[in-house]
Amino acid sequence: MAALETFAATRSKLFAELQEDLKQRGNPSVNISRFLDCLTATTEGGKLNRGITVVKAGYALLPNPPTPQEHAHLRILGWLVELFQAAYLVWDDMMDGSEYRRGRPCWYKGEGVGLTAINDACMLKSCIFMLLRRHFRGHPEYAAFVELFHEAAFRTELGQLCDTTTAASGQIQDMTAERYEFIARNKTAFYSFYLPVALAMLYCGQASEEGLGQAKSVLLDIGVYFQIQDDFLDVFGDPAVTGKVGTDIQGSKCTWLVVQARELSDVHQQQALRESYGQKGMDHERRVKGIFSELGIDVLYTDFEKRRLGELQAQINALDESRGGVKKAVLNMVLDSIQQRDK
Ligand code: IPE
Ligand code: MN
Ligand code: MN
Repeated sequence: MAALETFAATRSKLFAELQEDLKQRGNPSVNISRFLDCLTATTEGGKLNRGITVVKAGYALLPNPPTPQEHAHLRILGWLVELFQAAYLVWDDMMDGSEYRRGRPCWYKGEGVGLTAINDACMLKSCIFMLLRRHFRGHPEYAAFVELFHEAAFRTELGQLCDTTTAASGQIQDMTAERYEFIARNKTAFYSFYLPVALAMLYCGQASEEGLGQAKSVLLDIGVYFQIQDDFLDVFGDPAVTGKVGTDIQGSKCTWLVVQARELSDVHQQQALRESYGQKGMDHERRVKGIFSELGIDVLYTDFEKRRLGELQAQINALDESRGGVKKAVLNMVLDSIQQRDK
């Protein structure tokens, strides 16, 4: 796919700029090669959904065919979202005690990396602002880009805070639909769905308050839907396809599956969940999966996925595109890109 290839090529150009910047600051070569390794390893092998969304949304929003400059700019903005994702995934894998990401060991698991991955992820995130400044300082929406990335960071961190505190308390009765919604909107939906589209809208000069508001309300809902898919795949997905091994059951995470189980289970099943959810070891994990299956949560998920898709499509259709409203084609494109995913 040509669009994907040129998107991938932009990455090398940006990394070369970062390399040059590190050199100019007098870094010893050991710093430079270590950081380039980190940049490469943490931005490779993913679906690039978020980055490509910026590009596609931009193409749909520009009033004229994109100039070479606009092509390049949209790709750079796309990679900034991928860098954001890379940073938060490094932290997330450490916090979740995960082993694999995108089919290989998580960055922090690498030889000689360990806790120094914390600083690596800080640097990945700082690179966003260095590259923004370099390429967009003269853009009329420069300040809005910076603010949006800061807001996305804070929202993601709030979501991660709630995700980890709910897991640490381990109380199944706290794992309510409302708690779930809060976690998913913040830890995933804002940066994965609203951020890429809002960047494209700002870049194209099509970001009225009204349009951004409409986009946010639909995209946060799409993001929750995406996180529900993520939760399902954590338990029922194929690691050979997802590239990661699930940690949610042993990690006592507040997932869509456990929220359903809490609502549907009888007293015996509740007791078993209290005993085994969040406990280390495959026996406990198998017991929890057994309860999920008994409750028919996999079937429930298939029905839910279909029904929710229809609702989201209806929500998009009902929007008013006139007078600075959001372009429905952009939201439909985003929704299409995550349909029936298995990774
Ligand atoms: C990750 O959430 C959200 C981030 C902020 C990166 P999860 O922990 O549920 O995602 P995976 O399953 O590890 O990718
Ligand atoms: Mn995780
Ligand atoms: Mn997590």
